[in-house]
Amino acid sequence: MPHNQFDKKSQAWSALFSEPMSDLVKRYTASVFFDKRLWQADIAGSLAHAEMLQAQSIISAADHASIQTGLALIAGEIEAGSFQWKLDLEDVHLNIEARLTQLVGDAGKRLHTGRSRNDQVATDVRLWLRGEIDLVLELLIELQKSLVDTAEQHVEVIMPGFTHLQVAQPVSFGHHLLAYVEMFARDAERLVDVRRRTNRLPLGAAALAGTSYPLDRERVASTLGMVDDQGQACVCQNSLDAVSDRDFAIEFSAAASICMVHISRFSEELILWMSQTFGFIRIADRFTTGSSIMPQKKNPDVPELARGKTGRVVGHLMGLLTLMKGQPLAYNKDNQEDKEPLFDTVDTLKDTLRIFSEMVGGQLNPASGVKEGGIGVHPEAMERAALRGYATATDLADYLVKKGLPFRDAHETVAHAVKAAIAHQVDLSELPLAVLQQFNPGIEKDVYQCLSLRGSLNERNTLGGTAPTQVRRQIQRHRLRLG
Ligand code: ARG
Repeated sequence: MPHNQFDKKSQAWSALFSEPMSDLVKRYTASVFFDKRLWQADIAGSLAHAEMLQAQSIISAADHASIQTGLALIAGEIEAGSFQWKLDLEDVHLNIEARLTQLVGDAGKRLHTGRSRNDQVATDVRLWLRGEIDLVLELLIELQKSLVDTAEQHVEVIMPGFTHLQVAQPVSFGHHLLAYVEMFARDAERLVDVRRRTNRLPLGAAALAGTSYPLDRERVASTLGMVDDQGQACVCQNSLDAVSDRDFAIEFSAAASICMVHISRFSEELILWMSQTFGFIRIADRFTTGSSIMPQKKNPDVPELARGKTGRVVGHLMGLLTLMKGQPLAYNKDNQEDKEPLFDTVDTLKDTLRIFSEMVGGQLNPASGVKEGGIGVHPEAMERAALRGYATATDLADYLVKKGLPFRDAHETVAHAVKAAIAHQVDLSELPLAVLQQFNPGIEKDVYQCLSLRGSLNERNTLGGTAPTQVRRQIQRHRLRLG
């Protein structure tokens, strides 16, 4: 038996093995059909590594040039779709390296000097995720801008604010939307932070213990843009940790999950608001679907799906945490399972953010040149709902406090007034002055000012409150911040 018989089957570690891998095991262990998505990062990492190998005189200038030429050819092939991905070659790394060697011979075999797939894959995932974080950050800015635009159009629209989903106090619809801007702004902050810890270089850790070649890891980090705000190279400082931990992926998934939870809460509200029972908004037809049996139906599928997909992103976070929890140092093959959940998290988050900015902010109609909003508002329905729920009861209590009543007593007095209003099926503001005065003789005509929805809204004029002046101030702040 010739010692290299498995070389023909493209097994990188053939000499030691006395039988080939079964087809089932090959399929079970291969990752190329999903990790080929890392190809650009893999090539970037290899180019940086090769450049450093040459600078350190570990490979010759000629080999370096061959590697550059070969990797450029491979990039072209992958882009053109002509690259032959082989299951036999297990993963993206071995596929590209084998093709490189086929193209440029021994120089290709020298590329892996001082490197292992363990530090290679950790580097690739970090590089790839860094790029994706940047895209997600842009999308988060777009979504915030859409929300701010829509909020600005509806600063004066009054809706019932809820606690326990019971009408509580009137709020500006613009103010309500800006609550989500705050959430997405924090999501962006979290991602900026995750990016910092993702952007560190594992390469040079080799298999687990470092390498005997005189590598310049800082040089590779700088080449790959893995630098901090001061331009200092960011390199993983412990080889065992570098190849084995995936906490950056877990952190990203946690940040993505929180962001999806925010989207999901917003979705839930859109779904409620669009229902006939609320009737607060309509969602443009392009974001809804009909029913195959009930002709009258228009369903808010997009928010419903987003709410559903939140479960899947949170599930991926649980998957990654569980993947990591029992692993001893250093690299274990378990880690190959980090990719699909991470990829799906990124895809789901990006699609969701994109669709929500379009739905909230509208889309430019190229025919009319006008931005057509995806969400239409029914201000009358919102006001009607606020009036039905005695939303200004707190204002009446505050009014009595200003007349000198202790708050607890005022609270009790107003409860009686609300009871009377319910009995007469009218709003508090519709009770005649004489009736109100039965509850407290100090009540005067000016009470009607604070019993009106608008009066109540204008009163809440503290920083972060719902008074239109405050809401406009916040809109200005967001505009400055978002650029
Ligand atoms: N495909 C592997 C992964 O995703 C690459 C690293 C494999 N390393 C190893 N020693 N088998 O993790």
